[in-house]
Amino acid sequence: MKKATLVVIGGSGTSDLFQLEESEEISTPYGKSLAYWIRVAGKDVAFISRHGLTHNLPPHKVNYRANIYTAKQLSDNGYVVATNAVGSLNKRMSPGELVLADQVIDFTKGRVCTFFDGTNEKVVHTDVTFPFSSFLTSKILKASKRLGLKIHPKGTYVCTEGPRFETAAEIKMFKKIGGDLVGMTLVPEVFLAKELNLEYASICIVTNWAAGIAKKVSSEEVLQVMKNLAPKLKLLLEETIKLI
Ligand code: HPA
Repeated sequence: MKKATLVVIGGSGTSDLFQLEESEEISTPYGKSLAYWIRVAGKDVAFISRHGLTHNLPPHKVNYRANIYTAKQLSDNGYVVATNAVGSLNKRMSPGELVLADQVIDFTKGRVCTFFDGTNEKVVHTDVTFPFSSFLTSKILKASKRLGLKIHPKGTYVCTEGPRFETAAEIKMFKKIGGDLVGMTLVPEVFLAKELNLEYASICIVTNWAAGIAKKVSSEEVLQVMKNLAPKLKLLLEETIKLI
């Protein structure tokens, strides 16, 4: 089986990032996942579109287990970089900027969030004190320096259930408890990756000020900002792949 130097899990607005021609359907015990093979800097990279290429899967319907299991199957060394569109609660992190998530607060409600759901022999409690790969985040930071691209090295991501955006009061609370960013897709992805011992990093793309900071949040705004930022994101991913 072909192995990937890196698996990219692309979030909203990333389906046109690369030319996706060669696809492979992977069957997993959790359902199917579709991966696309691309070549970057002479390396094989697998791309999984989290919401599907036509953006038909809302955050709470994504098959996170199938995607992460597929990433495990396809990756050579277990390297996975995800992209996540986020709203910002932090004045220093403006729309149009990139942030490397380094912590997560989980406010999801109804998602299947583990591979260890009691049907295995043992009860497993995974350590997620530091959920993200220091190896991959250091490579992404180095790549951004090489490109002269601004990226915030740390940020606490609050994950909501969605698919609705938040209320102003929710955002006020998230700010109080230490959140910088809000999004709907990092959980359970990051924790499933940890359960399978993958090296996982998330490049967050700030697409909007969060609810209450902005008067209104809209999907159109999120997708438009993602579209404008796509070339930068592509360069950053390519430069990172060169460093792995
Ligand atoms: N809230 C939740 N998810 C998001 C947002 C937001 O403001 N922006 C992009 N994804």
